[in-house]
Amino acid sequence: MEVITESAEETKGLGRKIAADLITDYRLRITDYARVFALTGDLGSGKTTFVQGFAEGLGIKTRIISPTFIIVRKYDIPISHQSSVISHFYHIDLYRLETEIETEIRNLGVNDVWSIPGNIVVIEWAEKIKNIIPKTATWVRLKTLGEDERKITIHQSPTTDHLQ
Ligand SMILES: Nc1ncnc2c1ncn2[C@@H]1O[C@H](COP(=O)(O)OP(=O)(O)OP(=O)(O)O)[C@@H](O)[C@H]1O
Ligand SMILES: [Mg+2]
Repeated sequence: MEVITESAEETKGLGRKIAADLITDYRLRITDYARVFALTGDLGSGKTTFVQGFAEGLGIKTRIISPTFIIVRKYDIPISHQSSVISHFYHIDLYRLETEIETEIRNLGVNDVWSIPGNIVVIEWAEKIKNIIPKTATWVRLKTLGEDERKITIHQSPTTDHLQ
């Protein structure tokens, strides 16, 4: 799927819709594995903006900020949006990790996070750990086309474009 957005609000809206659909999947029990969204795209392409909308779609009221030195942030999904299988939302930002990234990620326990079926996980700069991202992940690439214009490509597996 490919979408062009023309404002940050529109990108948030896309994230919100994808998350809301996920809640529906869980309620229908379509999903029985952790849902991982691997985000790629340059600085300022709108990854965090997408995550802000995504969190809103999960009913999370806390404002999502770009983690600075914190790589992994965990949020509770409110009861109104929960089903028996959903547990938590994790926002992971790999921007600051430069060396031994896969080891760091293992040390942070991320492998456990994406092994728990009810967890919903969004990862910024996912291309840095492309070899260990679960095969079931959805890949979301954001590309800056103009000041307010972004191309957002969503695939069930990474394309060469996603890993650039
Ligand atoms: N169509 C659009 N979609 C998303 N963001 C947009 C759009 N148009 C303008 N923007 C602006 O672009 C910026 C995107 O910043 P954001 O922090 O979301 O990017 P990022 O990809 O997370 O960057 P980083 O690599 O630093 O983490 C915001 O200031 C946002 O308002
Ligand atoms: Mg960001």
